[in-house]
Amino acid sequence: MLVTETTEKKSKLKSLDTLFIKTYGCAMNVYDSSRMSDLMQSAYGLRIVDEPADADVILMNTCSIRENAENKVYSELGRYKKIKDKRPDLIIGVGGCVGQQEGERIQQRAPYVDIVFGPQTYHRLPEMVKEIRRNRVNLTETDMPEIEKFDHLPKPKVEGLTGYVTIMEGCDKFCTFCIVPYTRGAEISRPPEDILKECQQLIDAGAKDISLLGQNVNAYHCENEDGETVGFADLLHLVGGLEGMERLRFSTSHPMEMTTELCEAFAEIPTLMPYLHLPVQSGSDVILKAMHRGHKRDDYFKAIDELRLHTPDIALSSDFIVGFPGETEEDFEMTLDLVRKVGYDSAFSFKYSPRPGTPAAKAEDDVPEHVKDERLQRLLALLREQSRERMEKQVGKTSQVLVESKGKNEGDLQGRTPDFRIVHFKGNPRLIGQTMPVKITAAYNMSLRGELLIED
Ligand code: 5AD
Ligand code: SF4
Repeated sequence: MLVTETTEKKSKLKSLDTLFIKTYGCAMNVYDSSRMSDLMQSAYGLRIVDEPADADVILMNTCSIRENAENKVYSELGRYKKIKDKRPDLIIGVGGCVGQQEGERIQQRAPYVDIVFGPQTYHRLPEMVKEIRRNRVNLTETDMPEIEKFDHLPKPKVEGLTGYVTIMEGCDKFCTFCIVPYTRGAEISRPPEDILKECQQLIDAGAKDISLLGQNVNAYHCENEDGETVGFADLLHLVGGLEGMERLRFSTSHPMEMTTELCEAFAEIPTLMPYLHLPVQSGSDVILKAMHRGHKRDDYFKAIDELRLHTPDIALSSDFIVGFPGETEEDFEMTLDLVRKVGYDSAFSFKYSPRPGTPAAKAEDDVPEHVKDERLQRLLALLREQSRERMEKQVGKTSQVLVESKGKNEGDLQGRTPDFRIVHFKGNPRLIGQTMPVKITAAYNMSLRGELLIED
């Protein structure tokens, strides 16, 4: 722990009552934030508030994956400084990937920040807060200990019907554009017994749709208590078979590790839902190589064919980057061609932005901004068209819908199909939490409309 004395005087301790957490980025960060909140609630009994101005402790859980991350953090911190000027007892912490990457630089630029921590050290938050309150010092905790974090977290809580469990963290792939291997560290997997226990706790607390999380879940491998190695497909079989498991998903996968066992798992495990996020980033072999993705476009097609052989209706989604250094019009057209050949249900598309410290950032960012914009628009238009067509194909089908909440319109309920589409339909709110057959009657861009097939 790095401790820097500040000029602040020791103040008489006021009780801590409220916590505000601002979360940026991926599902992993959302999970981390909920664990931070559990921790702070069990250590200090803090209540979550929606406004930073009402909080005694403000935590930012940051993301550095794309453009402007650091600037966004500093401008948000500027807002918090105004609150702290009025209430000097306010504790401000910056965690997550920007915390990890920037470390002490954050407190040099924003000395009113009390704590800087990384994704691997947030389990020490209660201790850090205690230290701050005792000594009014600035703390930086950005070392990357072995996965000790998970041993120090309280039982997970379920919000709504969905639950998340981190099964591995970090990434050893080192795609040349990506900051993750530097902020989240090396791949490390949690023991299967711990994962099973956490999933069972979530099920017992009412979770019906559980997602296993990791930067690269396919790389999961860990010894069990008997010394046998459990791979990702094995883990899916174990978790999918837990008593009371209804719907299981996972994210994110890498095309390089789409093993046959994994492709078959969707057909073999009844609780594993037919939806896969499999980022490809580009459809050009030249760009895939420059990105250090470790596979060619044909390998990606092979993985998709194998998946669809076993589960023809699986819904697919992906991430794309346009305007990577050196990307020509032909390279970009190969991406459009790949999209046409695969057929996606949804996707996330980004303009390349150099991330400081990554290998790609050393190359000239040579695709002009207006070309990146234009390519992004063309890609988005194609993906929108595709996703709409695939939504239309749902009309007339009957789907098992997990009813999640009331809909926005009076008398409506909202739920999810197994392949993760949102459906609205008329029904009694007491159906929330149940899985009901719904006939799909209309398709929109982002959701479906349906009718309950069973009288409620
Ligand atoms: N520029 C643009 N997009 C990026 N991503 C990761 N790094 C960058 C970058 N430097 C995107 C990738 C990844 C998703 C989480 O974010 O598409 O899959
Ligand atoms: Fe980043 Fe590549 Fe690892 Fe995904 S696989 S987290 S894009 S380095």
